[in-house]
Amino acid sequence: MEINAYNPNIYDQLWNPQEYLREYYSHDFIPDDEEAFQQRLVAFLKCGGRTFARAIDVGCGPTVHLHTALAPYVGELHLADYLSANLNEIQKWLRDEPEAHNWDINIKHVLELETLSQATPADIEARKQLMRQKVTALKHCDLRRSDPLGKGAKYDLVLSAYCADAATQSKEEWRQMIGSLLSLCAEGGVAILLSACQSRQYQVADKSFPFASVDGADIAAALAAAGFDPLRTTLETVSIKTWAELAFDKIVIAIAAKHSSQAS
Ligand SMILES: C[S@@+](CC[C@H](N)C(=O)[O-])C[C@H]1O[C@@H](n2cnc3c(N)ncnc32)[C@H](O)[C@@H]1O
Repeated sequence: MEINAYNPNIYDQLWNPQEYLREYYSHDFIPDDEEAFQQRLVAFLKCGGRTFARAIDVGCGPTVHLHTALAPYVGELHLADYLSANLNEIQKWLRDEPEAHNWDINIKHVLELETLSQATPADIEARKQLMRQKVTALKHCDLRRSDPLGKGAKYDLVLSAYCADAATQSKEEWRQMIGSLLSLCAEGGVAILLSACQSRQYQVADKSFPFASVDGADIAAALAAAGFDPLRTTLETVSIKTWAELAFDKIVIAIAAKHSSQAS
């Protein structure tokens, strides 16, 4: 289905967290975009030699799978999204309610990337507990605002997957949104971004949602403009098969450190 005229209120009007979870997070295998991203995330955290006092997932949607790798390395984790329906879905998982989405397969996958050995049900339960402990706030966030979380919010680690790129179909608006997103990163902090590459839209059930059709060069330029150090930025474009029909056939994974005024 084509988007004929981009509707800026599409998330308010058409988004359904259960439909999204069914379309993208209810398979009995790990999609190749998730495999690629979790591999980089685990490797970065294991090799980075640092921990992060305050971390945030911006545009988390109804998902928690990306917090698996973060949990041992962060003091506290905030989860932010534009829609309260998504945060309500997360709240169900945090409270271990029976109707919450089951993330066990995704959590097991990350544990096995970390240890290169089989994760047991007890290992999965222990990590779920840690993930729940680390979440200290659920926040409303609108990247169309220059202060998306309200004044002064800063984090040592900002993670965001398919958010600014999925919030608009205009590259101009995306530039403004990614700038707002990256402003949440403190000096000396790290941003970890997962974006659809050169795609205009993604399907959820029979509905089409936007992508801003960005590529690696757009993301590199946005990071540099927001004060990230190109010498401490890794940026990879990875081919994707799982979602080639529904969403994208390439992703960009960026891990970038922000300049610090204290650096020599
Ligand atoms: C494709 S989903 C990504 C969800 C999740 N991060 C993932 O990887 O599956 C896009 C998310 O962007 C959020 N979003 C849309 N417009 C936004 C805005 N203006 N500000 C912040 N988030 C927005 C939506 O609510 C939705 O959760």
